[in-house]
Amino acid sequence: MNMIDPFGRTISYLRVSVTDRCDFRCTYCMAEDMAFLPKKDLLSLEELDRLCTVFIQKGVRRLRLTGGEPLVRKNIMHLVRQLSRHLDSGALEELTLTTNGSQLSRFAAELADCGVKRINVSLDTLDADKFHQITRWGHLDKVMQGIDAAQAAGLKVKLNAVALKDFNDAELPDMMRWAHGRGMDLTVIETMPMGEIDADRTDQYLPLSLLRASLERQFTLTDIPFKTGGPARYVHVAETGGKLGFITPMTHNFCESCNRVRLTCTGTLYMCLGQEDAADLRAPLRASEGDELVADAIDEAIGRKPKGHDFIIDRRTSRPSVSRHMSVTGG
Ligand code: GTP
Ligand code: 5AD
Ligand code: SF4
Repeated sequence: MNMIDPFGRTISYLRVSVTDRCDFRCTYCMAEDMAFLPKKDLLSLEELDRLCTVFIQKGVRRLRLTGGEPLVRKNIMHLVRQLSRHLDSGALEELTLTTNGSQLSRFAAELADCGVKRINVSLDTLDADKFHQITRWGHLDKVMQGIDAAQAAGLKVKLNAVALKDFNDAELPDMMRWAHGRGMDLTVIETMPMGEIDADRTDQYLPLSLLRASLERQFTLTDIPFKTGGPARYVHVAETGGKLGFITPMTHNFCESCNRVRLTCTGTLYMCLGQEDAADLRAPLRASEGDELVADAIDEAIGRKPKGHDFIIDRRTSRPSVSRHMSVTGG
């Protein structure tokens, strides 16, 4: 059974934000005094498993846990272990997660044991002071230990760096050399206007066409058809032998090939990262022990998946395009 949206796109990828909480407060992602969702509104891990299972029965082949920081959700490994049965049965091709790495040294081996093959680690700088500054209180050495543990456990690690003007742009070539030297791909991301933050996004925003042009003065970049199923467009870097991905929601929209929807920890389904429209799956989930009501609600929601996002970053519009933070829908 396939889920096909009004634009003929097959939905085979579910991103699940298992918590909107995070142990960091990256300045482009959150305000310092964030109000998080009330704990009483959270779905239990069993309910999240039930929803994910319905999605898998309806054609989801890849599932990514995100947050907030997924590894700060209490007993999260219980959910990972439960979901891994769908890998064993062959119903799911990939179970993975996007993490800030702070808890990875504790969980890496168990993730690998559950059939997770690769993970994405968010890391915006290799400078300990700058790391502390951008995350507001994070410690780089913890994340480095996490990356070491992940690689030692046999997980393939991809790094994600949000490109921020005058913060890490000058450092990105070194980060790329470092990542590639350790066998990790790197993707760079344009900042998206989601949720109120304390900074001005216009000051931070760096169109990646500028970064690419600057990298091309030092490196030989060749476009390659490599695809993970995500939105990044990849190049091969001759000098390092590694891959660099560009995620360009602002300058080069990729919505025409969108294959995904997003579930939050309260059971809200967002059909697009860059739109406010959502569907409540918690009520149908709790209304009956059978899954028909949930399946119907999913069909109805997929039937109104929008064509794409309307993100704009413009000094004249001080409000973010989407009022919720990235941490609610997990990117
Ligand atoms: P893989 O390609 O599977 O490795 O993952 P990914 O890059 O899709 O996922 P990840 O969680 O690492 O996200 C990296 C960045 O891509 C985050 O900033 C996400 O917000 C962004 N991103 C992922 N999917 C979408 C999307 O559908 N639309 C937009 N605008 N951004 C997305
Ligand atoms: N724009 C772009 N990327 C963001 N992330 C968090 N907030 C934003 C934003 N406003 C990134 C994180 C992480 C991924 C899930 O999303 O750094 O790599
Ligand atoms: Fe946490 Fe990721 Fe947001 Fe940073 S970007 S505050 S690590 S959810």
